[in-house]
Amino acid sequence: MPPIVPPIKCQGIKTKLVNDIKATVQFPIQGKWIEPFCGSCVVVLNVQPQRALLADCNVHIISLYRDIQSGAVTGQMAKAYLSEQGELLRSVGEAHYYAIRDRFNREGSSLDFLFLNRSCFNGVMRFNKKGHFNVPFCRKPDRFAHALVTKITNQITNLALVMRDKDWQFEVANFRDALSRAEPGDVVYADPPYAGRHVDYYNSWSDGDELDLTERLKNLPCQFILSTWIKNVYRENPLIEAHWRSSDYEILSINHFYHVGSSEDLRHSMEEGIITNARIRERHQTAMGPIEQLNLLPT
Ligand SMILES: C[S@@+](CC[C@H](N)C(=O)[O-])C[C@H]1O[C@@H](n2cnc3c(N)ncnc32)[C@H](O)[C@@H]1O
Repeated sequence: MPPIVPPIKCQGIKTKLVNDIKATVQFPIQGKWIEPFCGSCVVVLNVQPQRALLADCNVHIISLYRDIQSGAVTGQMAKAYLSEQGELLRSVGEAHYYAIRDRFNREGSSLDFLFLNRSCFNGVMRFNKKGHFNVPFCRKPDRFAHALVTKITNQITNLALVMRDKDWQFEVANFRDALSRAEPGDVVYADPPYAGRHVDYYNSWSDGDELDLTERLKNLPCQFILSTWIKNVYRENPLIEAHWRSSDYEILSINHFYHVGSSEDLRHSMEEGIITNARIRERHQTAMGPIEQLNLLPT
């Protein structure tokens, strides 16, 4: 089934991996779904747990999702706003994009965030040292054509529908705080930034953070699923060998191609890993067909 797509994009968005990630979840989820790095929320949107703690250190992502959840931003509101602003973009040109960017950096409105996210260069989300959004314009004045506005409107409406009868909490939090809330029966899905890449105000991720996350995941009282990389054209991820090749874990390997990225380097194909402390093998066999289709690395 094609995944449900959220209204915003971000680096490392897992739209293409959602079905593989879902296949590693131990359903039914007894407790809550915890995502300490929820980003675009594409994963939770497709897993659709009844209870969830959705955290990210990026206040703008969390504000937008809270606004959609509370009805402060609806599909119809976004439609009216994007149609109007799209018309101004068409007639004024890129100066209008920069006027919205300045306003967003002063006032932080969710609708302006949506506008910038869907009309910035390459769909990246990047903030400077002061926490100001600094991605340039995509240079397409006709960006908000009718078809795209309709698509975004539907994405917001669908998201609101999915959330309507669910107990989902959106929180601005550091991953350590979110993980400290895990209890037996919960499922944690962790998708951290890649160390040394996309470094900005909300994404400064160090080797120390990565090691800390590794230790915290290993000590959780519940299932965890970690998205990480196994290798790219240049090198292998040393943490796989050092921390995850053990019979306590399963490592699913997937080749994935990133389309969101500001440079050639970020758009390379990459071997992704999904690591979990649960058994994927048996469930995959029944839920996803023959086991041969899965590339489980030896542990
Ligand atoms: C790779 S993205 C997550 C992508 C998401 N799974 C998706 O499919 O859209 C990583 C996210 O982690 C957030 N982040 C970075 N450092 C963090 C930290 N120390 N604590 C919590 N969130 C953090 C970033 O704001 C970003 O949204």
